[in-house]
Amino acid sequence: MGFIVHLNPNLGDHEHIKAEKRGQKNNVGFIQLNRPKALNALCDGLMKEVSQVLDEFEKDKEIGCIVLTGSDRAFAAGADIKEMQNQTFSKVYGGNFLNHWNRVAECKKPVIAAVNGFALGGGCELAMMCDIIYAGEKAQFGQPEISLGTIPGAGGTQRLIRAVGKSKAMELILTADRINAQDAQSSGLVSKVFPVDQLVTETIKQAEKIASFSKLTVAMCKEAVNAANEMSLREGLHFEKRVFHATFATDDRKEGMSAFVEKRPAKFTDS
Ligand code: CAA
Repeated sequence: MGFIVHLNPNLGDHEHIKAEKRGQKNNVGFIQLNRPKALNALCDGLMKEVSQVLDEFEKDKEIGCIVLTGSDRAFAAGADIKEMQNQTFSKVYGGNFLNHWNRVAECKKPVIAAVNGFALGGGCELAMMCDIIYAGEKAQFGQPEISLGTIPGAGGTQRLIRAVGKSKAMELILTADRINAQDAQSSGLVSKVFPVDQLVTETIKQAEKIASFSKLTVAMCKEAVNAANEMSLREGLHFEKRVFHATFATDDRKEGMSAFVEKRPAKFTDS
């Protein structure tokens, strides 16, 4: 277990989440969703707190990677149904309801979801906004919105198909069935499965590994990989080449290659 240091006095003081810096070098931003009575249902206040902490973590020069987790029982059981129950079309359309959730996908630093328990509806969508999903052995993923008379509204119809392909995505969205961690891994939604009690520790270790590289190069990698979702192959390959060429303008590319040739560890300066 690494050190726990609060970034500033406000960071540990949220109503629906906990936020800390973790890792041996305090270089991992850690967010834990903390609405146990509602199985971490994603009410508006919770998502605003997540956005606020991401703003802080993005500004913090020490932090190289962010971990988002819930409890052993639930990562998140979806958008808050009680909050949505009496909403109207004019209000949700007028206020572009849920649009601000995309802040998580727009984070410049890598975000890893560590999912124990339920990741349903908006919970599954929140995990998919992250760059990597690790799961505990008891995790369950699903898009049950159809059973509530609605559809996934935070990226489920778009990100799930990219993660698992059309047939599996349609099956989950049209039947409201859940899949377990092992199935989520074999279908490509999840990249590693850990025992429940080791999930967070192992995820932080992976986050520390990412945070040990140049933050500049990490951001360039993330931007280039994400471009694959937005561009044709030809445009994506062109974009990748330009970003690759741009690494040659950085000190960290020079340092990384010099360190290899000189058989010593690289000392990146994020420049
Ligand atoms: N919103 C609000 N409250 C929720 C919730 C949600 N999404 N999920 C669970 N809760 C609350 C329950 O209402 C309950 O509160 P009370 O004690 O006050 O009644 C508490 O959490 C515990 O839940 P359960 O008693 O239901 O626990 P369980 O172990 O029997 O079942 C569950 C667990 C299968 C996850 C079940 O709670 C469930 O099906 N939850 C809803 C899942 C869902 O449909 N998610 C999609 C939401 S819509 C959405 O996300 C839209 C979008 O795309 C953004």
